[in-house]
Amino acid sequence: MNDRHYTLFSGSTGLLGSYLLRDLLLQDVPLAVIVRPTRKLSAEARIESLVADWETVVGRTLPRPVVFAGDLTKADCGLDADAREWISTHCDQLLNNAASLSFRNADREGEPWRTNVNGTRCLLELARSVGIRHVDHVSTAYVCGLRYDRVLEDDLDVGQEFGNDYELSKVEAEQMVRQADCFDTATIYRPSIIVGDSQTGYTSTYHGFFAALRIGHTLLTRVPVGATSGRALLKLLGIDPDASKNFVPVDWVAAVVARGVCSAETRGKTLHVTHPDPLPMSFVAEVVQEAVETYSIAASPDDPDSCDEAWFAENMRTQLDVYQRYFRNDPTFDRSHMLQIAGDIPCPALDEDSLMRMAKFAISHDFGKHPPSLIPALIDEEAGRSADAAPDAATPAKAT
Ligand SMILES: NC(=O)c1ccc[n+]([C@@H]2O[C@H](COP(=O)([O-])OP(=O)(O)OC[C@H]3O[C@@H](n4cnc5c(N)ncnc54)[C@H](OP(=O)(O)O)[C@@H]3O)[C@@H](O)[C@H]2O)c1
Repeated sequence: MNDRHYTLFSGSTGLLGSYLLRDLLLQDVPLAVIVRPTRKLSAEARIESLVADWETVVGRTLPRPVVFAGDLTKADCGLDADAREWISTHCDQLLNNAASLSFRNADREGEPWRTNVNGTRCLLELARSVGIRHVDHVSTAYVCGLRYDRVLEDDLDVGQEFGNDYELSKVEAEQMVRQADCFDTATIYRPSIIVGDSQTGYTSTYHGFFAALRIGHTLLTRVPVGATSGRALLKLLGIDPDASKNFVPVDWVAAVVARGVCSAETRGKTLHVTHPDPLPMSFVAEVVQEAVETYSIAASPDDPDSCDEAWFAENMRTQLDVYQRYFRNDPTFDRSHMLQIAGDIPCPALDEDSLMRMAKFAISHDFGKHPPSLIPALIDEEAGRSADAAPDAATPAKAT
């Protein structure tokens, strides 16, 4: 019997990775994970804590992955000879989900280049040296850069321009995966902008929708009310109210990628893991406005930290410049391959209720300053506690 039935999985501790970990373990996929230790926790302890939380959520025991402490940016991904030997005996598939989501760095020794390009190269080299035959790689729909036409799933470099270094680093990573001649198959998943859990609002990263929310939140907490209408926010962010962006809930993205990883039919394809209904930015701005008015503590003119809109715009210039390119109108993402593989997994609608839940989660966890829990009962408790601790936040600050 072939013993090589494990999938080697990078990036299992991040937002998408933790949902993928749950979905793959629920389907009894044998996993070996490469995980960075933190200052406080070993790689094993990080995974044990995640799996134990998921067991509480799903109400059943889950199998444990084999854990290797490693880092994609180190030689041999930081793995010793015993670990590499084990992988060469047991793993036949690689799922590369690890990435840096830093947007900009001229220095190619820094992020996002270090992990997305050098780290992917190191992981592919490891996979080659241990004889892994199938690679599944999480890319991004925004490898399309600044294109505005219809983007096919097999398109990659068509001479497009890019909005930031992250997009370009993900193109280079995808090219390396596609061109590696050591694999029988290379399968690519390209999600659009990942938001939180469609049911609980949980998130552990704060890009895209959450970045706009954070700017709205900071504006409301620093500038006395009157300046926070949805239109003012759009103007400040330099966003075209007629633009639309493609957002996808993390639970759905994980369900689609897990389906792909488990099905031989997916192998060799590229899938746009994108929403059928992009959201108008005017709607997103209204939700951001409502969320910050409901959950953030508004600035008072007497507050020594308060400032005016011009000061805010000037001091947020760098962030705003980055996001002005980012919140441009999206192209149309063709979804033919994705529908063939996962057309029966409905993509939850991102309506006002679900986005407000995500916004409440992000604001009550102060955009990552308070560690989040995956467990729905604790999410409600934490959100409640945070509202109790900040009585002003419960009083809506009315915009004019
Ligand atoms: N978020 C989005 O909107 C979005 C949209 C499209 C595509 N994607 C893609 O989806 C994937 C997951 O993104 P995410 O939003 O879930 O990101 P995330 O929450 O930041 O997770 C990134 C994961 O990669 C790991 N990682 C980063 N650098 C590493 C390194 N040098 N060595 C080992 N592991 C490393 C992180 O480990 P630590 O826990 O140790 O940091 C974490 O597990 C990425 O490939 C990303 O490009 C994301």
